Amino acid sequence: MVDGAKNSVLKLMSAALLAEGTTVLHNIPDISDVRYMVKVLEGLGCEAQIDGGSVTITVPAEISWNADIDSVRQFRASVCVLGPLTARCHHAVVALPGGDAIGSRPLDMHQSGLEKMGAVTRIEHGCVVAEVEALHGAEISLDFPSVGATENILMAAVLAEGETVLDNAAREPEIVDLCHMLKQMGARIEGEGSNTITVNGVPKLNPVEHRVVGDRIVAGTWAYAAAMTRGDITVGGIDPVHLHLVLEKLKLAGATVETYPTGFRVIQERRATAVDYQTLPFPGFPTDLQPLAIALCTVSEGMSVITENIFESRFRFVDELTRMGADATIDGHHVVIRGREQLSYAPVWSSDIRAGAGLVFAGLCADGVTQVNDVHHIDRGYPGFVENLCRLGAQVERVSGDE
Ligand code: UD1
Repeated sequence: MVDGAKNSVLKLMSAALLAEGTTVLHNIPDISDVRYMVKVLEGLGCEAQIDGGSVTITVPAEISWNADIDSVRQFRASVCVLGPLTARCHHAVVALPGGDAIGSRPLDMHQSGLEKMGAVTRIEHGCVVAEVEALHGAEISLDFPSVGATENILMAAVLAEGETVLDNAAREPEIVDLCHMLKQMGARIEGEGSNTITVNGVPKLNPVEHRVVGDRIVAGTWAYAAAMTRGDITVGGIDPVHLHLVLEKLKLAGATVETYPTGFRVIQERRATAVDYQTLPFPGFPTDLQPLAIALCTVSEGMSVITENIFESRFRFVDELTRMGADATIDGHHVVIRGREQLSYAPVWSSDIRAGAGLVFAGLCADGVTQVNDVHHIDRGYPGFVENLCRLGAQVERVSGDE
C-alpha cells in the first residue's frame, strides 16, 4: 500500500498558507521531505504537527514573507511557497533551493508568470524575491509544462483579482490534486488535468481537510522492483491510470500486469526484454522513473535506448551502474544499454532519490553484497523502503544511521 505522493503533499502543505486557520492533510508519507516542509512552515510563523498519517497546519492571520531560512535550502520543493507568499503577503523572499543533483533547475517560468500578474521579481543574495501591490489575472503561456511553475502560478492566481488563463500548463496528477484542494478551499479553477487551466481569483480562501493522492512514482518503483527481480508484487493506494504508460512499458518487457480500481499487480516470470524509453511531461513516461527503467534495462535481454528530455544531469547514476558491470554508454541525453544476465557487486553512491532506489534494485540483481551509500536520498522519497523490501523477501540491511 503506497501513501500520499511526495510531489503532492509538499505543495498542499504550501497551499495551506493561502488560508488563515487549520488545514489537515491525510495520507501523508513518512519521509524526510515532509519533515523539512514542517520546518519551513514553522519558520513562516505557522504551527505544523505530524500525527501518524496526517499533518495539521495552523496558519495565523499574519504570516512571515521571509523564507530565507535554512530549512528552505534543504530541498527543491520548498520553492512552492513563493506563489502562496506572494498572494498572501504581496512580498516573498525565498531561499534558492538545493535538492537532487539532477541538473540545473532555473525559476525563470515561475518568475515570468508572477510578473505577468503584476509582481516584480529578482534573484538577490541567494534568494528569489517577489513584490507586488496587488496581483491581477493574466494570460500566461509556459515555454514548457513545468510542474513547479504551474503550481506557483496557480497558487498566486487563486487570490489574484480577475481571470488567469495558464496555457501549456503541466497535467500531472499532483497538479490535479492541488487544484482539487484549492477548489475545496473556495478557489474557482477550471481545466485542471488539461493543458489550459483557468482561474478566477477570489478575495479569500478557507482551510480544509484533504486526502493526498497516492504516490504513482513510489508505486511505479515497486513495479520495477518486480520486473527486475522476476518477482510478483501487488501495489495498492494509487489510481493505475496515473501509471498507464509505465505499466504498458512493463508489459512490453514481458511482465503480466493486472490492474484494479486502486492498484495493480506486476508478475515477471522470465528475464525482461529490452525496451526503449523517452521521458516526457505527463502523460508521457515520468523522468522520476527513468533511473528505475535504466536499472531494469541493464539486466534485460537486448539493447535499449533511453532518452531523457526533462533534466540534463539525470544520467549521473549510470556511472555507478557501470561500476556494477552494466554495459551503458551515454551520448548527450541518450543512454544506450546492452543488458547483462547479471550485475556484479560494488560499492555505489546514490545521487538522488530515484537513483538510490535503482541502485538498491541493481544490487538485488548482482552477485555478492552491494553497498549503496548516501541512502539519505532514499529517505527523502520512500517511506519504509528497507522494511518493504524485507517484507518482499529481499536481503537488504540498513547499516548506517543516515536518517
Ligand atoms: C517536479 C517534481 C520532480 C519531477 C519534475 C518533472 C516535485 C517536488 N518535483 O519538479 O520530481 O521530476 O517535476 O516531472 O514536484 N525549468 C526551467 N525554468 C523554470 C522551471 C523549470 O527551465 O522556471 C526546467 C527545469 O530545469 C527542468 C524542466 O523545466 O529541466 C522541468 O522542471 P519542472 O517540471 O519545473 O520540475 P520541478 O517542478 O522542479
